[in-house]
Amino acid sequence: MGAAGRATETEPSVRTRSELRELARARVGSRLLVSVSNREPFEHVRLPDGSLAARPAVGGLTLALGSVMQAVGGVWVAHGSGSADREASDERGRVAVPPGRPAYHLQRVWLDAGEVEGYYNGFANQALWPLCHSAFAKPLFREAHWQAYRAVNARFAEAVARVAGDREVVVFVQDYHFALLPAMLRRRCPRATCLHFWHIPWPLPDILEICPWSAELLAGALGSDVLGFHTPQYARRFADAACALPGWRRDGDGAVAGDDGRRMRVGAFPISIDFDGIAARASSAECDAAVARLRERHGLAGKFVAVGVDRLDYTKGLVERLQAIDCLLERHPEMRGRFAYLHAGAPSRTDIPAYLDLQRDLDRAVARVNRRFGGDGYSPVVALRERLSESDVLALYRLADVCVVSSLEDGMNLVAKEFLAARNDERGRLLLSRFAGAAWELPGAECFNPFAIDEFAGRLRDMARPDPAGEVERMRRLRRHVRQHNIFGWIGSILETVPGPGSGG
Ligand code: G6P
Repeated sequence: MGAAGRATETEPSVRTRSELRELARARVGSRLLVSVSNREPFEHVRLPDGSLAARPAVGGLTLALGSVMQAVGGVWVAHGSGSADREASDERGRVAVPPGRPAYHLQRVWLDAGEVEGYYNGFANQALWPLCHSAFAKPLFREAHWQAYRAVNARFAEAVARVAGDREVVVFVQDYHFALLPAMLRRRCPRATCLHFWHIPWPLPDILEICPWSAELLAGALGSDVLGFHTPQYARRFADAACALPGWRRDGDGAVAGDDGRRMRVGAFPISIDFDGIAARASSAECDAAVARLRERHGLAGKFVAVGVDRLDYTKGLVERLQAIDCLLERHPEMRGRFAYLHAGAPSRTDIPAYLDLQRDLDRAVARVNRRFGGDGYSPVVALRERLSESDVLALYRLADVCVVSSLEDGMNLVAKEFLAARNDERGRLLLSRFAGAAWELPGAECFNPFAIDEFAGRLRDMARPDPAGEVERMRRLRRHVRQHNIFGWIGSILETVPGPGSGG
């Protein structure tokens, strides 16, 4: 990945939720739409008063895909992971959602602790995740994890096949948890059209080779009709790997073809956010109050404020960020007392040793910077560990002089886009890793190399020098881009690839 920039500026044909709904109705037609993801759109939990509640998953993807599901109906197949999911579902594991105004079914797949350990903690997150991100974490390849991954993919294929019966279906599969599912569906549901979106990078060819089951992964993913990535670079890597297999070749720029007559589209569909929704919520009274509260609580008046919002993952370059801050404050004593870094880090995948190690390393790095450069009530780094509301996160974006995204490698990175959406004042700067998919997509973003700690520190120092005209001009351009290319357009661009009824399989 590099900051090459998006080559062509195609106007999306869909901008709004209602346009997306219309397109989905036209494209899916009388077929059944089946979505598949590991995370479910609603989790049921029991509240302290004994009642059952459905908690919606947060995030733009669920919102946009949820809108499509609500428009055309259908079934969303996902791992039932909520503590009260079984009580809320019928004997087949089904429940109608959204609660109160049901429009589609959630079909839960039950996984036992061993399956979660092997499929999710094991192969998906300790083999595939590090394999696909060049963050220098060594993948762990264990036969038992692979077997569990295969078995869980088969369980999902069975669930989709049961839902589909002998109907013509459009199946939309999310992410690296299901590399094998498309080929399984091809065998089990010959009348299915399969769209698969891979939300993370695809590994470089030599790196892919270290996976003992790379050929099986490729063969599995080659079962879909359309395979989407965030950038052309990931798509090219996949197509190169596929065409190294016997019987596969390129078919034009955006497709691969098999000797058996099959053609599979492989392309870039950069994901986005609900720009207007975020922008509106960022100007709410609740958000104004959160900005004032955070400024007051952390004594931010007159300071240069850097903000980071991340899932606590070793791919996000969080330790590197603290090393750069350490370097900045050491080299530029004038920044001591003037610089504040607020970090909202959401704990993630805490059953995996590498994630626990990261939390420990981060705690140490924060303590070190604050010990070296803090004092007299001043702490340069504030790690916000409490669970933050959406208003708090938007407030953090709003009070940032700079939002730092320092991923060592990242499929897209939506924090970068959310930050832009939240800045209705057209102020603030985004310091964006060259190795995030967003760096390819965002025109004229200020990109850097997070591996180069001195460069990183230098860029932070530069950003503290006022450049109001450049800042506003850049913000305007970046915001215009994300407003135009939003999450509804993203799903729309994928649904536009769906061939007409009767051509599935
Ligand atoms: C990445 C993946 C998603 C995943 C998310 C959170 O963005 O692409 O599929 O849901 O991380 O990770 P988790 O393991 O908590 O679902």
